[in-house]
Amino acid sequence: MPEYLPTAPYRGTRDFLPPEMSVRTQVFGQLYDVLERYGFLRYDGPILESAEIYEAKSGQEIADQQLYTLTDRGGRRLALRPEMTPSVARMVAGNAGSLQFPVRWYSHPNCHRYERPQRGRVREHWQINADIFGSDSANCEIEMFELVHDLLGAFGAGEDLFVVRANDRNLLASALTDLVGVTAEQLPQVFGLVDRWEKQDRDKLAGAAEEIGLSEKQFAKLSDTLGAGTALLDELPEQVKAESNLVKVLGSSAAGLVRYDPLIVRGLAYYTSTVFEVFDTSPENNRALFGGGRYSDLAGLFTAQQIPGIGFGMGDVTLIDFLQTHDLLPSPRSEVDVVVIPVTEELADAARTVATRLRTAGLRTSTPLEQRKLGKELGRADKAGAQAVVIVGQEDWDAGNVTIRSLQSREQRTVQVGDVATEVNGLLRP
Ligand code: HAM
Repeated sequence: MPEYLPTAPYRGTRDFLPPEMSVRTQVFGQLYDVLERYGFLRYDGPILESAEIYEAKSGQEIADQQLYTLTDRGGRRLALRPEMTPSVARMVAGNAGSLQFPVRWYSHPNCHRYERPQRGRVREHWQINADIFGSDSANCEIEMFELVHDLLGAFGAGEDLFVVRANDRNLLASALTDLVGVTAEQLPQVFGLVDRWEKQDRDKLAGAAEEIGLSEKQFAKLSDTLGAGTALLDELPEQVKAESNLVKVLGSSAAGLVRYDPLIVRGLAYYTSTVFEVFDTSPENNRALFGGGRYSDLAGLFTAQQIPGIGFGMGDVTLIDFLQTHDLLPSPRSEVDVVVIPVTEELADAARTVATRLRTAGLRTSTPLEQRKLGKELGRADKAGAQAVVIVGQEDWDAGNVTIRSLQSREQRTVQVGDVATEVNGLLRP
């Protein structure tokens, strides 16, 4: 027996066959439409980047554990992008001179992370990124939250199906230092602990807190602080709150779009203030649907110019799980609208002429590539999801006619070749 190579894709990556791709194309098309209605412009960039741009700012988890790296023949250390934000910061920094800030940009890259594949987590995912560069205004936060609601709303997801939980790292830092007594050195590690708070059990968290150097009393206080919800705001210093865009949002008419939650901190190192995550309210999908935040100095890796940014990345896996859970996924499109069937091999040219007319009129049309009996071809057209067929028979053709038939109503009539597109359209959309 010959040894064949596996047909399955590499672990954690996915093939998308046409029916699934059709659903995905419709889903992403909806997202692009919403983004463009806000004035976001699409950009793209290379999948390979210098590994340094992630090692500098993305944080340890990505840099040490998840990066796919390679060395090119010239000895340069490269990485498959695990996310888009460092790339877009590079592009914005490199073109800052010709941009009219603020800019709204979006992209839809595939990103690679070496992770253990599990529900909601794969090694290659597609991520819609939407970012605003060049403004510190709280209006950016408001626009981001509105956008999130509109993106999910485009699929018919009501406000009861998801929640936007937001925090400001400066508010959290203040709570941790002023109320829990965390030191400046402990802060990054305690942020990491907060990020794991809902994913790990209490004993494990307590153990980790002890390792960081927090006392039992501090751990209990940390627990109370994180669980306080909106009430925590009352305990924070006015000066810290006055500088927080999130607090501004919470005091505005957009407050209803978002819930303040001390537990949100996010894993990436470059966020400097606002951070947010969107969650499905259904317990089946307990992972964040997507997330983002504000980063004041990521462009600082590439330029002396101060260009703040804010944005989010919305992953395809969690989004599609969400839409599936709530029965909001579109159906795959059929292969074609119409099949033009020549009754004999000699009529293949005639069928192609008719097909051209239909395609010119915007109908998705195919002709069989191999000659089969009419009955067989009708069955195949039905299976391909065609709504109508055009039958090209010798006698009809000699008289300048063809026969059109609806595969749903079985209604059939003979029409002039010159009218075929109008007639088929009439049959499909009576
Ligand atoms: P992130 O939280 O690492 O943020 O990823 C954003 C989203 O991408 C996640 O919420 C999830 O939907 C999806 N995602 C990430 N990793 C995986 C994976 N291994 N498998 C499946 N889906 C995944 C960022 O990447 C930031 N760069 C987002 C951002 C843009 N912040 C500001 N602008």
